[in-house]
Amino acid sequence: MKLRLSSPCKVNLVLNILGRRPDGFHELETVMLPVPLTDQLEFGVSDPGVRLTCSHPDLPVDSGNLVHRAATRFLEASGEPRGVVIHLEKRLPLAAGLGGGSANAAVTLRALNELFGYPLEAVRLREIAAGLGSDVPFFLQDGPALGTGRGEQVEELAPFAALHGRGIVLVHPGFGVSTPWAYQALAGFPDALGGRPGRAREAVEAFSGTDTATACRGLYNSLEAPVLEKHPLLKVFQEFFRERRALGTLMSGSGSTTFAITEDDAAAKATARAFTARFGAGVWVATAVL
Ligand code: C5P
Repeated sequence: MKLRLSSPCKVNLVLNILGRRPDGFHELETVMLPVPLTDQLEFGVSDPGVRLTCSHPDLPVDSGNLVHRAATRFLEASGEPRGVVIHLEKRLPLAAGLGGGSANAAVTLRALNELFGYPLEAVRLREIAAGLGSDVPFFLQDGPALGTGRGEQVEELAPFAALHGRGIVLVHPGFGVSTPWAYQALAGFPDALGGRPGRAREAVEAFSGTDTATACRGLYNSLEAPVLEKHPLLKVFQEFFRERRALGTLMSGSGSTTFAITEDDAAAKATARAFTARFGAGVWVATAVL
């Protein structure tokens, strides 16, 4: 039996860092929004072991790949004697702040649980997911969510009324940003390192209402401080979106993907066309309906 699943991505509407923790991670509060732009994964039961193939030449297919690690942990935890063959069709940009790799890992856990007849309970899947990465537990569920702790404690939220039917444009300049670098660089930006608690809940309230423009004023990402200083091109992208009357614009996660919220799908597509005309076809541009 083969199982073919889409693996989505996310943007952070709020990524508010509250401080550095003794374990080296950062305490944060984040509002995460699933975005229906996807990679594809295919799973099949096989002889013992994990065999991964991938369409992207830059991605490892051994334990350096989160999909491989997720499958290995699943087989260990479930005591399943059989193995799995997995193919990853990578479409989303890498090191992009979109959680693409985290989603691949979460989809792998969900898929293997289904393929092998649900040997693991939800709470065990969440533990394994959190051990794989801070963003992985978010992708075990399907809605927007509030993340706390290092991002791994996930509270599922109802869909945001303020975003219903709105468009989103995402742009990736072709270079990635190292997540550990972005967090470490916060040390040089004390205001960004010690964010005011409460921004995430306030944003959830605002996005649960219907005034999109007001809600978008709450878009906030602490990691913009170091990343936009290092990569001013991302500021130029944001200025472009503001000139085009986007409802809001922000960098997602540790970047480099920057997004804009638009009135609707038509506005997102028009903005994307104008963006490519201005910055050239070398910049990855995608749109989706929220
Ligand atoms: O959890 P994840 O593997 O995504 O984290 C990658 C890196 O990002 C960590 O090793 C750490 O340097 C940084 N990080 C952090 N605080 C967080 C999440 C990530 O410092 N809450």
